[in-house]
Amino acid sequence: MEANAELRDEALARLAACTDSGDLRSVEKDYLGPEGAIGALLASIPSLPKEKRPLVGAAANRLKKELELALAEARAQLESARVAAQRAAGDFDPSLPPRRGERGSLHPLTLVRREVEGIFSSMGYDIADGPEVELDYYNFQALNIPVDHPSREMQDTFYCDEEHHLVMRTQTSPVQIRTMEKRRPPFRLIAPGRVFRNEEQDATHNHTFHQVEGLVVGTGIQVGHLTGTLKGFLRELFQREVEVRLRPGYFPFVEPGFELDVACPFCAEQAGACRVCKGGGWVEFCGCGLVHPSVLAAGFSGRDDVDVDSLTGFAFGFGLDRLVMLRYGLDDIRQLMGGDLRFLEQF
Ligand code: PHE
Repeated sequence: MEANAELRDEALARLAACTDSGDLRSVEKDYLGPEGAIGALLASIPSLPKEKRPLVGAAANRLKKELELALAEARAQLESARVAAQRAAGDFDPSLPPRRGERGSLHPLTLVRREVEGIFSSMGYDIADGPEVELDYYNFQALNIPVDHPSREMQDTFYCDEEHHLVMRTQTSPVQIRTMEKRRPPFRLIAPGRVFRNEEQDATHNHTFHQVEGLVVGTGIQVGHLTGTLKGFLRELFQREVEVRLRPGYFPFVEPGFELDVACPFCAEQAGACRVCKGGGWVEFCGCGLVHPSVLAAGFSGRDDVDVDSLTGFAFGFGLDRLVMLRYGLDDIRQLMGGDLRFLEQF
């Protein structure tokens, strides 16, 4: 410990004697750098007797923090002294442009999510959300997926707490039920959010990704409203006329259920075979359908202000990561959650 006190006094004395940033850098190197004195202190710990290691380690880390702080203070002081001296000497030029700091930017997922929210807001939709750690009831049961239903295996679930029936939500569809419980029809909303699946990862699959759920509940709602809405949305998104088509698709919470494809909006821009649709001409866009009566019954159960039998609705769910990849021509979904600044700084 005494050795520490000596090291500390010596370092602080050297800091006090610094007159420019070069001096500061050399003090930093000698004490905090990879080959500096503190590093050597930490490196010596494994060779100490076991019972001494925690104390010596803690003391070394305290010293390291103290010196880092002292260094930052000394740096700030030198800088303000430098500016003051410059001003006093009359060579401070207030007309110089400010030094540019680092600027942050929005994540591509945020950019595209906001765009999607903007389009649906302009169509009269509200924006809703729900918890990422969800009760089995909302993620499955109320959506017409009882325990032991084979479709649970379609979505490899992360179970967090089986005793309390908690899962990481595998889809944004539970927000449908949560909204029905809280609101009175008619309503229309989208619910963008993060979802999780215990899948192998590759360029097109990640364990964490993003969906946008859509739900409209009212009276007299039909399949034509669903396709018209999605077509209108895609036209705004791609800023051109688009064709859509429905194929039958199975999701327990809609009946009838569909997969909606959009005529590839990228073919025209590409010479030769289209990279996006691989020449097929259609891109899968989302799962959708008319809300299953059992789902309406579960969501509005016990409500005497709602006549469930008079209600109909449509729902859809699409992947946001996929849209971001299409928009920016990305080929690996993992980049979106990777945190690599060289990637992120491009947006
Ligand atoms: N939740 C479904 C999925 O994750 C998508 C979907 C939403 C399908 C709404 C139909 C209606 O695959």
